Amino acid sequence: MKSENSLIDRNINIPVHIAIIMDGNGRWAKKRALPRSAGHAAGSKNFKTIARYCNKIGVKYLTVYAFSTENWNRPKEEVDALMNLFRDYLKDTKKFIKENIALKFIGNKKGLAKDIIELMEQAEYDSRNATGLTVNLAINYGGRDEITEAVKEIAELVKNNKINIEDINEQTIENHLFTKNVPDPDLVIRPSGEYRSSNFLIWQSAYAEYWFSDILWPDFKPRHLMKAIEDFNKRNRRFGGV
Ligand code: FPP
Repeated sequence: MKSENSLIDRNINIPVHIAIIMDGNGRWAKKRALPRSAGHAAGSKNFKTIARYCNKIGVKYLTVYAFSTENWNRPKEEVDALMNLFRDYLKDTKKFIKENIALKFIGNKKGLAKDIIELMEQAEYDSRNATGLTVNLAINYGGRDEITEAVKEIAELVKNNKINIEDINEQTIENHLFTKNVPDPDLVIRPSGEYRSSNFLIWQSAYAEYWFSDILWPDFKPRHLMKAIEDFNKRNRRFGGV
């Protein structure tokens, strides 16, 4: 296919794991005098476009921040609208799976509606054999919450004499994160003109490259993703070395 060939021609390395903070839906809606929920609906549509594009160009993992542990503080109407968008998406994952995309979820299941948890588990099960892109949907996700849960699990192991304190290392912590077995993100993208990590993959992004842009998430097109990847290719990743 033309686009893939041109990637090879241009000697572009595709990051293994891309993470995206899908920010700016509210402002996108406001600019059009629409309710915030319309912005989230446009954001959800765009998530599908970008996930498909990632699959096409050979990204192995795409992690998207869909709902944070702090988003519960939004008006109930907005939270309900987001939950309904997740429901709609989760009821209609067949096409994605047919395209060889696997679905996984990161975040705290506590607090989510039972039917949403069941739909998530079904989607994970139905897509278990997909070998293309893995999409990690972060729903009710917070990096601090994730680390806190990991600490609790490890403390329990120490308490029950399953491991010694001296044996706890970085790998032990990673084994208790939602992302266990997922390589760290190479590139974290945040559109909409905000320059924060907002509690997203704070452990895993220790050495990620960040890419920011003013574009609001619903307007973020595959060509913007490609620009981020091209810029990523120009970065000199040293992982603390020289
Ligand atoms: C932040 O932008 C965005 C969110 C809190 C929600 C992100 C969710 C989606 C894009 C829908 C995902 C749906 C599926 C099915 C994965 P904001 O609303 O805070 O924007 P603002 O800063 O402009 O107000």
